[in-house]
Amino acid sequence: KAKLCVLISGNGSNLQAMIDAVDAGRLNAEIVGVISNRPNAYGLTRAENAGIKTLCLDHTEYADRAAYDVELQRAIESLQADAIVLAGFMRILTPEFVDAFAGKLLNIHPSLLPKYKGLNTHQRAIDNGDKEHGVSVHFVTPELDGGPVIIQSRVPVFEDDTADDLAERVQEQERRIYPLVLSWFSAGRLKMLNNKAILDEQELPESGYA
Ligand code: GAR
Repeated sequence: KAKLCVLISGNGSNLQAMIDAVDAGRLNAEIVGVISNRPNAYGLTRAENAGIKTLCLDHTEYADRAAYDVELQRAIESLQADAIVLAGFMRILTPEFVDAFAGKLLNIHPSLLPKYKGLNTHQRAIDNGDKEHGVSVHFVTPELDGGPVIIQSRVPVFEDDTADDLAERVQEQERRIYPLVLSWFSAGRLKMLNNKAILDEQELPESGYA
């Protein structure tokens, strides 16, 4: 079973879904550490409550992105994790960091990639009049939010939705699909090869598992 290191910046509802999935026996993995770049991230409290080792690496204490990522890499390596799970970790990672963990880095992004890379995805979907929105889990490559998609989940956008309404609808799906993907990874069923996501030796389509 895989050792997971989860990286967060905030609330940690995805982290909680993973903790719950491990407890319920739906995710046969061990969360060996939770790292936050923000000292007041509520996810750190969730991890502590679950008896998981936590570490805060406050990015404001580092000279630049490269210096921060070197320290982050060192911390993750000391945990000997099989997967680095970005769960609301709101920082861009250097190519050096990403390359060091190629094939082991996963992210959840609140849009139907390749749409709406970056920030404010829910508001952008509303502003564009989209009838459908969603969330993607993908392998991380040096291209921001550009790595191969593993799975997507779609939700409707209703006429009077606010960004918060939509976020809530999307996050319900997040809590479902991220533990599922991690269970595949932990079982050795999921890999990245030549910039493609592979599940059970089959190349997944552009929009991921269906
Ligand atoms: C989630 O909605 C996740 O998709 C998003 O941040 C939220 C974190 O929630 N991630 C990004 O926007 C990445 N660029 P959580 O802290 O409750 O898991």
